[in-house]
Amino acid sequence: MISKFRAIENMDVKELGRCGVKVPAIGMGTWGIGGYTTRDTTHDKEAIVALRKGIELGLYLIDTAEMYGNGHCEEIVGEAIKPFPREQVFIVSKVLPEHLCYNDVIKAARGSLKRLKTNFIDLYLIHSPNSRVPLKETMGAMEKLVGDGLVRFIGVSNFDVTEMEEARNYLSTNDIVVNQVEYSLLERSIERDVLPYCIKNQITVMAYTPLAKGELARNKFLREIGEKYGKNPAQVALNWLISKENVIAIPKAINLRHVEENVGAMGWRLSKSDVESISSYFK
Ligand SMILES: NC(=O)c1ccc[n+]([C@@H]2O[C@H](COP(=O)([O-])OP(=O)(O)OC[C@H]3O[C@@H](n4cnc5c(N)ncnc54)[C@H](OP(=O)(O)O)[C@@H]3O)[C@@H](O)[C@H]2O)c1
Repeated sequence: MISKFRAIENMDVKELGRCGVKVPAIGMGTWGIGGYTTRDTTHDKEAIVALRKGIELGLYLIDTAEMYGNGHCEEIVGEAIKPFPREQVFIVSKVLPEHLCYNDVIKAARGSLKRLKTNFIDLYLIHSPNSRVPLKETMGAMEKLVGDGLVRFIGVSNFDVTEMEEARNYLSTNDIVVNQVEYSLLERSIERDVLPYCIKNQITVMAYTPLAKGELARNKFLREIGEKYGKNPAQVALNWLISKENVIAIPKAINLRHVEENVGAMGWRLSKSDVESISSYFK
């Protein structure tokens, strides 16, 4: 029987943008699940087990994309969420930059829905900007998807401040709720302007590659800090990210021990002084 994540103690949730819906401070990434740029079915079972485990433990936000495994990742996610009531998972997917013309956006979203075997995507993101397609046209298609009930919320990924402003200007009845960008202790360039802009405008920053591909899990300094809290370096690195008000993180983990550890990165907070010493150590 599948446990109900909403009953989990210390569930760490954050509002997504200004949309009123709360999601876990830590979700699950899926890049590499089902292949990278091509379809790979060799680890499907393992991936489904890991995703189901994560959902049960509270990591019920899953980040995928039409690009991942050339669509196979979405098929795996669709399979993984099958035993759960649809409203108990929050699915994020992304449209490729090559598919940003109006009709291509609609077609891409329909393709994702089919592979995910669902009738709506919770959050749909533009995977990265494409200067060859007018953003106005793309945002129009994104709003049409919301209007038709195929998508609940709109967001962007890898957008700078100017691109975010432009995207928001073209929306009439929605706002972007998320900018998904690379953010970790080893990649902090968004702190210059993207993060302050998102804080000011209540846009959630969804931090990708939050463990620097696992490198931060081996860090000695984070290990020392973590000892005080009974937490390991990966948990400290993730907690440092979510200690920021509008930041959530989406580590990818197929190893069940990693999934459990990432759950344990939520529900507590590093002290203010530890957040500061970690920030200056990695400056
Ligand atoms: N929008 C974009 O352009 C974009 C770009 C890159 C990534 N993303 C999204 O962000 C997600 C996360 O980024 P990422 O996959 O690049 O890198 P990541 O999450 O920083 O690192 C994933 C690696 O860390 C390992 N790991 C996970 N939890 C761990 C733990 N507790 N201890 C030790 N190692 C751990 C994983 O191992 P196992 O798998 O073996 O458990 C995997 O090798 C992606 O999967 C994708 O959904 C988006």
